[in-house]
Amino acid sequence: MAEADPNWVERLVEPARVHKAVYTDQRVYDLEMERIFGQAWVFVGHESQVKEHGDCWSTMIGKEPVVMTRDSKGDIHVLYNRCPHKGAKLTAEGCTKHKPMFRCPYHAWMFRMDGSLVSVPHRHGYDGTSFDPDDPQFSMTPVARVENYRGFVFCSLSEEGPDLKTFLGGAITSMDNFVDRAPDGEIEVAGGVQRVMQRSNWKIFFENLNDTGHPIATHESSFLAARKTSKHKLGGEVPFQLHIIEGNGEAPEFWESLDLRAFDYGHSFMTAIFHAPKGKISEDYKAALDTAKGKEEADRIVSMNRHNTIIYPSCSPHTGFHQLRVIRPISINRTMVEIFTFNLKGTSEEYWQRTITYSNIVNSPSSTVMVDDVEVYERCQEGMESDGMDWISQHRGEGRDNLLDREIQSEGISEMPIRNQFRAWSHYMLGTPASIPTGGGDS
Ligand code: FES
Ligand SMILES: [Fe+2]
Repeated sequence: MAEADPNWVERLVEPARVHKAVYTDQRVYDLEMERIFGQAWVFVGHESQVKEHGDCWSTMIGKEPVVMTRDSKGDIHVLYNRCPHKGAKLTAEGCTKHKPMFRCPYHAWMFRMDGSLVSVPHRHGYDGTSFDPDDPQFSMTPVARVENYRGFVFCSLSEEGPDLKTFLGGAITSMDNFVDRAPDGEIEVAGGVQRVMQRSNWKIFFENLNDTGHPIATHESSFLAARKTSKHKLGGEVPFQLHIIEGNGEAPEFWESLDLRAFDYGHSFMTAIFHAPKGKISEDYKAALDTAKGKEEADRIVSMNRHNTIIYPSCSPHTGFHQLRVIRPISINRTMVEIFTFNLKGTSEEYWQRTITYSNIVNSPSSTVMVDDVEVYERCQEGMESDGMDWISQHRGEGRDNLLDREIQSEGISEMPIRNQFRAWSHYMLGTPASIPTGGGDS
């Protein structure tokens, strides 16, 4: 794209196709870090990752290192992971404990969990200087905005923009359903985090999450192997593990019958591919939910059966099996996906084991399903970096979207969620996120 053209970003996205530069041009990536990850509400972590005073969870928001903390009063903070002295990162990435305070590994300045400065060594060295311990420039810097929605902590690096609930829009029902499924009303991250590094641009992963056109081809080897195992080794029995894998081999009519819904800011979800298996584990779980919430409410909760929800541009909850995938762009062609598995309080050990099984089958680095996807993501990235052709098609279902009130609905096979992501993407990139519309009207 011509560098002299001031409208170069605008030219990258058309109603049903995008220029390959959105995945391959370093200038696009740099602008995304500033205008998307520097503006949107981005998922930081779950409050259960910082249960006690001094607990920390460190991660990246775009290119900015941040740390989520719990202070002595029980409040949660999100701070830039940077010492105000000479910039050293105060914690390593991931889970750490700093009770009662941070101690910088370089010159030992100390900070409370809310980021405020406690002390500096060699205090007399600052006597008579302009150093003022009460000046905020000598404390850790909080990010511009933090909101906690039912335990899910998001931050925005910008003072401007909608509040978190407005941002989540219709996708908030997936976050609600995630928590409502816990008989005791609480969920917690359990079993650590699984990480998968993908050699592809971050947007490719998001586009795949509601792409019903790919399983029958991409996952052919794994679902055929599952079916063969069932037929030849198990006498036709389909245990839970194989049920999950072979679901990707459903006929085209099945995928067409699914419901896709999309919202402002690039969010969307699709209805479930399969349902929780019958049997004692499910029956015991439903009985516990009936007791806790009443049968009518419990029926409503479990009947909201969704596959991937997209909270653009940072995470994807799977409510039925209690997974949350978090998407961290590393570079123009590297993406880290972190997979968190949640324990629902008030459920049995067997129920938890089944949740882990789902994660291992579908999301873990050793999954036979995930490797299929990661392979095609990399092939897309390499193909787009070639000179073969400049444009990427998103035409499936174009012109057949139903525009509802702040919501778009389409048939299961449509690429509508991808077009919806790029409508939001364009507004962010052009610096007009406040006018991100729902509806297909104004690409
Ligand atoms: S860089 Fe942190 S105390 Fe010097
Ligand atoms: Fe897939």
